Amino acid sequence: MSSEGMAPAAAGPRLGEPLPARLLDAAERMTRAELMEHQLRSLRASLRHAYDNVELYRKKFDEAGVAPEDCRSLEDLARFPFTTKADLRDTYPFGMFAVPMDQVRRVHASSGTTGRPTVVGYTENDLSMWADVVARSIRAAGGRPGHKVHVSYGYGLFTGGLGAHYGAERAGCTVIPASGGMTARQVRIIQDFRPEIIMVTPSYMLTLLDEFERQGIDPRTSSLRVGIFGAEPWTEEMRREIEERMDIHAVDIYGLSEVIGPGVAQECVETKDGLHVWEDHFYPEVVDPITDDILPEGESGELVFTSLTKEALPVIRYRTRDLTRLLPGTARPAFRRMEKITGRCDDMIILRGVNVFPSQIEEIVLRTPGVAPHFQVRLTRRGRLDLMTVRAEARPGIGPEQREAAAAAIAQGVKDGVGVTVEVAILDPETLERSVGKIRRIEDLR
Ligand code: DLL
Repeated sequence: MSSEGMAPAAAGPRLGEPLPARLLDAAERMTRAELMEHQLRSLRASLRHAYDNVELYRKKFDEAGVAPEDCRSLEDLARFPFTTKADLRDTYPFGMFAVPMDQVRRVHASSGTTGRPTVVGYTENDLSMWADVVARSIRAAGGRPGHKVHVSYGYGLFTGGLGAHYGAERAGCTVIPASGGMTARQVRIIQDFRPEIIMVTPSYMLTLLDEFERQGIDPRTSSLRVGIFGAEPWTEEMRREIEERMDIHAVDIYGLSEVIGPGVAQECVETKDGLHVWEDHFYPEVVDPITDDILPEGESGELVFTSLTKEALPVIRYRTRDLTRLLPGTARPAFRRMEKITGRCDDMIILRGVNVFPSQIEEIVLRTPGVAPHFQVRLTRRGRLDLMTVRAEARPGIGPEQREAAAAAIAQGVKDGVGVTVEVAILDPETLERSVGKIRRIEDLR
């Protein structure tokens, strides 16, 4: 970001600045000790609520021989059983709701790649808490009352669009509910309405960036100053690509439907050093995905969440399948941070014994000259051997020799950085499918 890039759009509020202390909410002002006291109190209530009102939790707790009152310290949570996506699927659609249906104001569902979707529900208080945490996230990203927020996350059963929408309203912003798709029109609306903030998946941001250029508009001249990107993994290389091409601050927002939706954790614009987990509502643990042991702060593993204040769908030790590690707080000292997600357990490709994540490929593709930031990983089988082909796109105007050099550089980068041999295909510009929401990086043809 250039310093001019941080200047206010017209005479509006400044963007990219840390939140002044007077604008922090009550929880953000807590000390770590105060927060932990609040957590224990809420945790005990949440365990009790789940046990009393959800048959599945009652069974699970009874089988594990634990009762809500056995939780006398935050460490005691480790004695309670995990919950998984399978539990939600088995009780489809509403079997894990903890309140009568007439108190459920809204449902969302996550599509899931296989089988039944998982359905989640919200009471009025849940919706209000959700708007609060998304509003807090937008403020941490630099948003202030009076800013216009262009929401290109999909509206509908997906939590992205409506989650961002009500959070932006709660933050005192003006919402432009664009939803996903109709890319040419999105660019026109951004040009005409002049939003300062965009909330969208990073992969769809790339699609929008290409469209700006296709329309002959330099994206750096747009009114946008901050992008709040999430719903899929993205790397520091992707941050650099978007920040440079668009002259904006790119910050990370994390969440999942089962826990609430977007707004579980958010990166602060002044530090961009991982995401502060809004721990007054969502209690994080990191466990070894194989042994289930709780890992100490700083060690990488699977992220697990327990909701502390949710009414309609309390989740107890929910296994997210997302891989990260916890770190101490910085810009919001009371709240621990989670490192940018490196991938999901489910997205890990085991190629001839080596673990490969699409994010590792992304880092390499994005730092390779002559290649556009669009790529896909194709898995095939030749005889008994699994093969991985990295399919990337040439930037416009790149000739055959440079393409060959790029292919060699990517193959070498993967060999050195990940430790596996892959094939690389550099395709013509505009050949790979573009994202309109969450992108699918892996094409498994085995
Ligand atoms: O993707 C909620 C969301 C919407 C988050 C908009 C951020 C912005 P689900 O559809 O249930 O909910 O998918 C949740 O998406 O378990 C992660 O694997 C992935 N994910 C979400 N945010 C990030 C992120 C929404 N910032 C699943 N980085 C999660 C990496 C993310 N992965």
